[in-house]
Amino acid sequence: MNRIDVVKGDITQRHVRAVANAANISLLRGDGVDGAIHCSAGPGLMCECGILGGCAIGDARVTGGYGLPARWVTHTVGPVWSGGANGERELVASCYRRCLDLAVLHSVRSSGFPAISTGAYEFPVYETTYITVTEVASFLESNSNMARVVFVCFSDEATDDYEAGITQPELDGELVRHG
Ligand code: APR
Repeated sequence: MNRIDVVKGDITQRHVRAVANAANISLLRGDGVDGAIHCSAGPGLMCECGILGGCAIGDARVTGGYGLPARWVTHTVGPVWSGGANGERELVASCYRRCLDLAVLHSVRSSGFPAISTGAYEFPVYETTYITVTEVASFLESNSNMARVVFVCFSDEATDDYEAGITQPELDGELVRHG
């Protein structure tokens, strides 16, 4: 069964059980997708984030989804791109893996991801697609409990890059489906 999708859209509108948020280390509301998720979720999300004590880069924390269609939000902090020589690739892969680890712990079977770090943190989208698709595919191969992961892209460019990313030959054809 195909278990990886790419769609263009607004992640705050996606009907998946958990959505990932591209947060900052304080977990206090920011702009971008962070601002959109907080705006849709409502004030309860900020209250819960406020007592989590922050999050390290590459790690993740989980909260309720409040006013979002998603039941859970996995907040993760991506790396700021500084040319690729400071572990950025490993850190962004860790963001996806940690979000999925937490999602599975909460019996989540469908997760949505924005393109973590590719906005304010300037991680090139074409750089991140291969890394993140490979990381998610590897997680799914060893975690049958997660039925579906959707890459929710906000631009045509990101959508095209992710569509290309999921057609890499080394990916198990059983895993990917075009959204
Ligand atoms: N749905 C899906 N994707 C979105 C949405 C949305 N509603 N809004 C923005 N995006 C996309 C952006 O186009 C970008 O590709 O999410 C990706 C991540 O961009 P940012 O939100 O800027 O996140 P990031 O680059 O990880 O920077 C995080 O920005 O908002 C602050 O608090 C946040 O300090 C943190 C930093």
